[in-house]
Amino acid sequence: MKNVLVIGGGGREHAIIMKLAESPQVGKLYCTPGNGGISRYAECFDVAATDIDGVVALAEKLMPDMVVVAPDDPLVMGMADALTDKGFKVFGPKANAAIIEGSKVFSKELMKKYGIPTAFYEVFTDSESAVRFLKEKNSYPAVIKADGLALGKGVIIAQNEYEAVKAVHEMIDELKFGKSSSRIVIEEFLTGPEVSVLSFTDGRTIVPMISSMDHKRALDGDKGLNTGGMGTVSPNPCYTEDIAKECMERIFLPTMHAMNAEGRTFEGCLYFGLMLTPQGPKVIEYNCRFGDPETQVVLPMLDGDLYEIFDAVCSHTLSDVKIGWHEGSCACVVMASGGYPESYPKGIKMNGLDEKGQTEGCFVYHAGTKLADDGSFLTNGGRVIGVTARGESLEAALSAAYKGVGQISFEGAHYRRDIGQRALNFLKEQG
Ligand code: AMP
Ligand code: GLY
Repeated sequence: MKNVLVIGGGGREHAIIMKLAESPQVGKLYCTPGNGGISRYAECFDVAATDIDGVVALAEKLMPDMVVVAPDDPLVMGMADALTDKGFKVFGPKANAAIIEGSKVFSKELMKKYGIPTAFYEVFTDSESAVRFLKEKNSYPAVIKADGLALGKGVIIAQNEYEAVKAVHEMIDELKFGKSSSRIVIEEFLTGPEVSVLSFTDGRTIVPMISSMDHKRALDGDKGLNTGGMGTVSPNPCYTEDIAKECMERIFLPTMHAMNAEGRTFEGCLYFGLMLTPQGPKVIEYNCRFGDPETQVVLPMLDGDLYEIFDAVCSHTLSDVKIGWHEGSCACVVMASGGYPESYPKGIKMNGLDEKGQTEGCFVYHAGTKLADDGSFLTNGGRVIGVTARGESLEAALSAAYKGVGQISFEGAHYRRDIGQRALNFLKEQG
């Protein structure tokens, strides 16, 4: 039996752990830091996901057969390298490949060099030139992006010159995101439906997973502030077979080859954030890891052994593995703390969860919960849980997920009531 240590502590990691737990090959599961819900499936430790030395020391104590590094920051900081150096088998890219997410300037230059479709852009390191460029272009909305990681908040869609100039000053001059925003990208505003496609790749083979759709805004009707994601559905009906074929030829394979050509072979989960523009699919962003909350709808659809896939990526034998997907759909509805994505309370008692932190008919993926001494669950984050269900159709999946949401409560809880609506409307339009 194989023991696995997973680094991270959100809904994505819970979904990875619950899928690994299904594998007949997997023995003990460990997670750091984990959370209340994860602790019912894996032994948790209190080493932070960004503490490279601490994680290496923990791995040396536990001696797992594999370490899965799930979040972006440790990957960009080189956690996979540090663990590999110590002889561990690691699922997750090395730092020289994780840069595909860690630097927007890197990813834009890569796409330009290798002809991978993306928005036109310019790079700036001083605000004067950036402002001059904005004034000359005078085209809005304008998209302004911090070069480095910024907790998902480094993208500003400026509707006018005032907003654009403000964003430039905040990023470059006031270093709103620290060093991450000392360089910025200003790019063309694209339109069209967005699709998330996660893929497994070992640098030789790339296997796209089933597509998904995120819902980033806090409130119904895509209103309110941006969040880490309030819900997801899979598959994404906008992503047809023809589009998938085009993406494979023009985006997925070229990206894998480009990274190889740069001496930065990507091994792990490569995430493509795509926009289906009138001129064809274009890359909005790459992530060097599983998306959150995309993973929560993609992995339940996986008809296969996740450990076997991870192992094949590590040993460059991905082409030998059969990876299938279930029929039907999956939907995830995030229940968030009152006030999220701004300030919110923690430690609120949750009702409706069983001793495993689950509720009937759903997978409840815990994002921000804590196990209390009496075995009950307390809120411990902005996004608290992702209530997820599969169904024969998108309607059925949504109905089951919302039924689960109805069984769970905590003071101040809020969630979107229209997850999947955009996808349903699209299906209706197609007849
Ligand atoms: P991120 O925070 O990197 O996940 O991106 C935030 C969101 O900004 C994306 O999901 C898109 O909706 C939007 N976005 C990023 N780049 C562009 C672009 N060039 N044109 C239009 N929307 C964009
Ligand atoms: N859901 C988008 C992300 O994981 O970045």
